[in-house]
Order: sequence, then structure tokens, then C-alpha cells
Amino acid sequence: MIDPGWGDGTRAVHAGDPPPVPGGPLRPSPVFAAPFHLGDQPPRAGGADAYARTEHPTLRVLEEAIGALDGGRCLAFATGMAAISAAVLACAGAGDRVLLPSDGYYTTRILADAELDRLGLRIEYVPTLGIEGLAAGGGLSGVRMVLLETPSNPQLDVCDVAAVARAARAAGAVLAVDNTTATPIGQRPLDLGADLTVGSDTKALTGHSDLLLGHVSTRDDALHDRVRAWRNSTGGTPGPFEAWLGHRSMSTLDLRLARQAQTAAAVAEVLAAHPVVRGTRWPWRREDPSFELASRQMLRPNGVVSAEFADEAAVLRFLGATRLWVAATSFGGVHSTVDRRAQWGGDEVPAGFVRFSCGIEDTADVVADLEAGLAAL
Ligand SMILES: Cc1ncc(COP(=O)(O)O)c(C=O)c1O
Repeated sequence: MIDPGWGDGTRAVHAGDPPPVPGGPLRPSPVFAAPFHLGDQPPRAGGADAYARTEHPTLRVLEEAIGALDGGRCLAFATGMAAISAAVLACAGAGDRVLLPSDGYYTTRILADAELDRLGLRIEYVPTLGIEGLAAGGGLSGVRMVLLETPSNPQLDVCDVAAVARAARAAGAVLAVDNTTATPIGQRPLDLGADLTVGSDTKALTGHSDLLLGHVSTRDDALHDRVRAWRNSTGGTPGPFEAWLGHRSMSTLDLRLARQAQTAAAVAEVLAAHPVVRGTRWPWRREDPSFELASRQMLRPNGVVSAEFADEAAVLRFLGATRLWVAATSFGGVHSTVDRRAQWGGDEVPAGFVRFSCGIEDTADVVADLEAGLAAL
């Protein structure tokens, strides 16, 4: 059991660990099993495991760990999209109005347009900067579910979760927050009044660019049971190896975020001062439009920065002149990466818009490499 009064580093290391037992390992080892011995008792008598799609020991460890950081009961999924689709489809059905961010992760919009619409959900898109006004003006009346993504990916706008949560509660709508960019130690949506917090743990939470995971956490037992029932029957459960690796990787979250944020602060300053780079965004930069709200609502910064180069050719020239900054999608990993978002076609961003994900290399090396790349512009 972790002490909620402990700091981020202590909680990240100890979350999910069993009580110390003489002769036992410090970290729980993975249990590789699909079916488990049933014996001569009815399945699950005495809480014994039966089949790993519904539950397994390594999954419980991972869920205990993430849930401790989120401040809720966690259900882990094989990917972030499995978690998001479970959250939406466990809460809303045919005929229900569901509000999604128009400027959030683009595959959530693909899910909505390709699948949710076909199933009869009535999807409406609202920009991250527009949802608070809509909610304050009574715009959530008749809405079944709202999904926020704050900071939004990739443009890093921030909305007031507590204000939207109050309006959602008054309207009887379920509020979910995609907390991927912030991570569970960077923002606690459940403390801010959200019913569900969801995340792609493929990103900074596990942070080594070598596994896919996602999760949904809640304090509402009925919602928890709905999402669990959805997972049991649709089968998005992570297996033991991913669950173990995820738990192992989480232990260093505090250290990784600290280095990533330190580098991001320096990277954002260099980008903002450069004459041909426009629109630098990092919500913890004093000049950023999200600064005031991010500082109030979030617990700590992270390593994702965005900015605009002149065009695609400029991004390619930049990448041709860097050694540490490599082109890759995703974010939150230990390597410093650059993603030109327009190449994927899902975001309404200019051709030269890039998302920088600061890794955990030495800040001075990453900044020097950034300057080398910028010199090629
Ligand atoms: C904000 C956000 N939510 C959800 C996802 C989906 O996660 P996954 O790729 O693990 O399915 C992503 C992936 O980039 C993301 O950035």
C-alpha cells in the first residue's frame, strides 16, 4: 500500500509492489499463464484466477500501480485506443449524444467517424478551448458523455476540467479525460471531478517506446463494472509480459518526466527565440496561452512541445542536420523525437507543424542538437 503523502518518485517506485516478504523478490515477477488450475472447486472459488482474459496476477499488479497514481480503480488495456473505445462504448450507446474534442488525438475521431457513428452514437466535436464556454452556457444538457483531452495532442491547449465536471454532473453526463500527455503524476482528473480518466500508457507513463498499453480509472464502482464487463467480452486485456514491463517501466516515471520537462523548458525557449519558427507551445512557458490554467490545474510539466516550421521541406532540412532529434511518431519516450503531424493527415495543422517530444538525454546535448538543426533552416 502506498502512502498518498509520499512524493511522485516514491509513489512511482512503490505503487503495485506487494508487502515485503523475507526471501521474496522486491518486484513482482510476471506470471505467464492463460488458464489456471481450477481444481475441484467451482471456477473462481476463493477468488482464484481462472482465465487471463478476465484477470491475471500481473494485470492486478499493474492496475494497482496505475490506480494508486490516478487515485481510482484502474482497468488496463492492450492499447490506449482499446481503453478509449471501452470508456465510450461502456457509457454510451445508440442515440446518445457524445462530445469529443475536435483537436485531440486524431484516431479518436477516426474511431468516432468509422465505428461509433455506424453504431448510432451521435458524435459532436468541440474544440478544447470551446468546451468550457459551451458547458457554462448549458450546452451539456441532453449529452450522455463528454471526453476531454487536456493538454490536447498535438496543439497543447488546456481546458478547465473542474468547471466542465461541474456542468457535466449537473447535466447528468459522464465526463472522461484523456490524460495521456499529462500522465497520472502530472494531472489527476478524478480529483478535478471527472468520472473517468483514460490514457495511452504507450506514451510517457511507460516511456521506453517498446510497448503498447492503455488504461481507464474511476472511483465509480458501477462505471468500473461496466468497463470491466466490456473488456471481458471484447478482450482488450494486456497479457502478462506487457503488464509486467509496464509496471517495471513506470517506476522511473518521476525521473523521466523531470528530465523531459527540464529539456522542454530549454527547447521551448530556443524555439520561441528563433526568427523563422512560429507558434511555439509549451503550457508551462510563462508566455503560453495555457500557462495560467495549466499551472493551476496540473501538478507538473512534461516534455511535449509544439512549434511551426515554414513547410515540410524545412522540417526535412532540420532532421537532416540533427543527430539526436529523430523522426518518429508517438511521444513521452526516452529518445528525443520530432513528428511532423500533417504527414498523418488527421490533424488540422499546417504542413510545417511539428511536435517535439523531449527524451531523457542530457539537456545540453539535446539543445545543442536542436540548434544545429535550426541552423539548417
Ligand atoms: C492523447 C492520445 N490518446 C490516445 C492515444 C492512443 O494510444 P495507443 O496508440 O496506445 O492506442 C494516443 C496515441 O498517440 C494519444 O496521443
